[in-house]
Amino acid sequence: MNPDDTSSETPTPPRPDAAERLVGASADGEDQAVEAALRPTSLGEFVGQERVREQLDLVLKAARARGATADHVLLSGAPGLGKTTLSMIIAAEMNAPIRITSGPAIQHAGDLAAILSSLQEGEVLFLDEIHRMSRPAEEMLYMAMEDFRVDVIVGKGPGATAIPLELPPFTLVGATTRAGLLPPPLRDRFGFTGHMEFYESAELERVLHRSARLLELEIDAEGAAEIAGRSRGTPRIANRLLRRVRDYAQVKADGRITREVAAMALKVYEVDSRGLDRLDRAVLHALLKLFAGGPVGLSTLAVAVGEERETVEEVAEPFLVREGLLARTPRGRIATPAAWSHLGLVPPPQTPGAGGQQGLFGA
Ligand SMILES: Nc1ncnc2c1ncn2[C@@H]1O[C@H](COP(=O)(O)OP(=O)(O)OP(=O)(O)O)[C@@H](O)[C@H]1O
Ligand SMILES: [Mg+2]
Repeated sequence: MNPDDTSSETPTPPRPDAAERLVGASADGEDQAVEAALRPTSLGEFVGQERVREQLDLVLKAARARGATADHVLLSGAPGLGKTTLSMIIAAEMNAPIRITSGPAIQHAGDLAAILSSLQEGEVLFLDEIHRMSRPAEEMLYMAMEDFRVDVIVGKGPGATAIPLELPPFTLVGATTRAGLLPPPLRDRFGFTGHMEFYESAELERVLHRSARLLELEIDAEGAAEIAGRSRGTPRIANRLLRRVRDYAQVKADGRITREVAAMALKVYEVDSRGLDRLDRAVLHALLKLFAGGPVGLSTLAVAVGEERETVEEVAEPFLVREGLLARTPRGRIATPAAWSHLGLVPPPQTPGAGGQQGLFGA
């Protein structure tokens, strides 16, 4: 038996979003190892995202019926919502091989030319983090997507010549967490764009039941609901919390995951009932207790919690804002009424932050 968390031999490299964060949405080393086993392999098995699933189903079915290669697909959405999973499903549904690469891996147009020219007919090319591709590679991709052709440049300077190269029809599946950063000419060349949304709690419960079945864990409906509610709308986080609750259930209980076991386990890991972790709560706590709910400047708030400005802004705030607990205003950060009640605190009367904006404009 290998206690997976305590191994000091395989340290995971630091990630931009707070390293080793239990509720972080990026994949850590352990996620990468287990995710392959938990990935749904057909559209029917893929939970939620009804609209994207239905539209994609039509695109793929129609292509199959025509005996053609499917149109290029762009998948956008936050980390951990299922973009990579869906790209593999597209290949499986089309009965096609898949080639996986990513924007940062393609430094030069030549790298892309090498990949494109070795594609088989009908192959799916998955280009992760497509917004991070270099400019010259991007321009080569335009032509490849549209005309299934690339110009390979041979030689340098005035003597350089472009040798046109025909490509077999292929399906490009691009994934991005930052659709806004894609240049319009690239965006326009996709026949279908799927925007992945955060998941409802009921959908995450289905993800959890499915994962529990694959991991041979016993979980009841309430246990799944308890974990789903703390998973920030993200399947990757749900699966990760499930593994931590499983550890607790095995060590401290009889292995069965019930509401009580899930709640006690996640208390140990400091993930609260809304999915806030220690950092999120520290930020809210400082905002409420030290600054009476704000408004307070980001730097001041960061110093108060002993963190870097960037950490507060990029790691803690996005979820607090999404949850309606904190708002960013031109005067600084303010707490919403929901923040006070979530931390079980009573807003002081007549203070600016107490009722959101109220008081800001008073005499
Ligand atoms: N709709 C879903 N149904 C079931 N499981 C899902 C679903 N979406 C995602 N998952 C699970 O969440 C994990 C993370 O999904 P995936 O790797 O596809 O996310 P991603 O959007 O590619 O994230 P990133 O932006 O970090 O690359 C998968 O291993 C899978 O087990
Ligand atoms: Mg991915």
